[in-house]
Amino acid sequence: MSTFKSLNPTNLSDVVVETKLATPDEIADAARRAKAAQKAWAKMPAPARGRVIANAGRLFENNKEALSKLVTREMGKVYREALGDVQEVIDTCDFFLGEGRRLYGQTVPSEMPNKNLFTFRMPVGTALIITAGNFPAAVPSWYIIPALLTGNSVVWKPSEYTPAVAEAMTAIFHAAGVPKDVLITVVAEGKETFEGMVKGLDEGTINKVGFTGSTEVGRLIGAKVGEYIQSACLELGGKNPMIIMPDADLDLALDGALFAGFGTAGQRCTSLGTLWIHDSVYDKFLKMYADKVASSKVGDPMEDVLFGPMISEKYLATHEENLKLIQPHHTVLGSTGIGRITKDNPREGFVGDPDAGVFAHPTIVAGIKKEDALYSTETFGPLVTVGRFSTIEEAIELGNDHGFGLSAAIYTSDPKSVWTFREGISAGMLSINNSTSGAEAHLPFGGNGKSGNGSRQSGIWVLDVFTRWQSLNWDWSGKLQKAQMDNEEVPHNPDFKI
Ligand code: UN1
Repeated sequence: MSTFKSLNPTNLSDVVVETKLATPDEIADAARRAKAAQKAWAKMPAPARGRVIANAGRLFENNKEALSKLVTREMGKVYREALGDVQEVIDTCDFFLGEGRRLYGQTVPSEMPNKNLFTFRMPVGTALIITAGNFPAAVPSWYIIPALLTGNSVVWKPSEYTPAVAEAMTAIFHAAGVPKDVLITVVAEGKETFEGMVKGLDEGTINKVGFTGSTEVGRLIGAKVGEYIQSACLELGGKNPMIIMPDADLDLALDGALFAGFGTAGQRCTSLGTLWIHDSVYDKFLKMYADKVASSKVGDPMEDVLFGPMISEKYLATHEENLKLIQPHHTVLGSTGIGRITKDNPREGFVGDPDAGVFAHPTIVAGIKKEDALYSTETFGPLVTVGRFSTIEEAIELGNDHGFGLSAAIYTSDPKSVWTFREGISAGMLSINNSTSGAEAHLPFGGNGKSGNGSRQSGIWVLDVFTRWQSLNWDWSGKLQKAQMDNEEVPHNPDFKI
């Protein structure tokens, strides 16, 4: 039996939990059980399922601090952000508890008399939800809550780096009244998850796959699921641009760029990729940014710091690989070193003991060009690239051409720039005078191109992920009325002229 030790990234000697890792057969078995439980769950009236979501929301609220502390302990984001992570679960419950009393279908007029047309939303069946470690509470809830509300059962495969948070969340859902087999959580590694998924697809016990993670893995999952005539909900990487126009409020932009770049140690899919600064303010804003980042506190996430540790050694190793992409024509700013923060490679003003955890220096790489590998690499760490532009058209092109399209921001006071940006940028989520990260939980969340296949989470839009439209025509005329053939023609005069 193989197990995984989840470690506190602030203090690696603190073992949060040791979890058993599921085999492909165990994942397939979970899908079978979830599938068997789904029919009865779907039979429950949607308003009653909404009540269960309401219960869950209240329990998440009552347990907000304890769960947020666990998020910080297991994943490393600063406590204030962990509270936000859990708040997003509560917000999602708030939104969907009422959807139980809506879940609207339509009544549609028929072409023929004495005939009525309707639409109904039908649950898809059993969903396999695979989520990442960076938002161990919020992102899973974006899938699990609407999936359950609409009458699906769920097998949830959380990140193996955050099993304790997953266990606590699952226990809350069960305490709220979700039957045990309607939500089953399995912790597993990537390869085993993929094999278990294929078994479930083969057996017809997995009817929807939701995946949040890298573009590379999303591509594999999307392609495999496609073989089974299914479409996965894919929420993938980003290289999110932020454009600073000459008329931007630079102090405001500074706050936005700081949070977007280094919040969650840069490990949000909405984190700032490249900061594109207009020529006329390039030197000034780059200096403001570099000074601000250099003077910000990094360290213990329970203290007042900009960011804490990275999620795990694996994430730090990827960050260190990305640092190798820095070229001689780049300027590196933002800290007293790059790579891992240690006593021998210190960060000025570090809060806590760097050697105890997995901490990385914040790094700004200025002078980025379109040809550079860093232009099109999602770095998923405390690394922000900076480049310059002279026209908004050029900035939009730079913001689009790497093929990612998740989130994008512009700072400007000119409505013409706002609308040119809105029309031209290919990302799914845009911000005007705000950070690339920090989307609210009831707007459509998702991206285009390498960032996703067009599916959207959150709000009313995610209903289309977890339900299928069923149409119904009910003819009560007592005779066969053939559509397109038995319709009544209204007499008219085609040659009429005044
Ligand atoms: C993610 O990084 O996968 O918009 C989700 C944000 C958060 C969610 C990020 N509300 O930054």
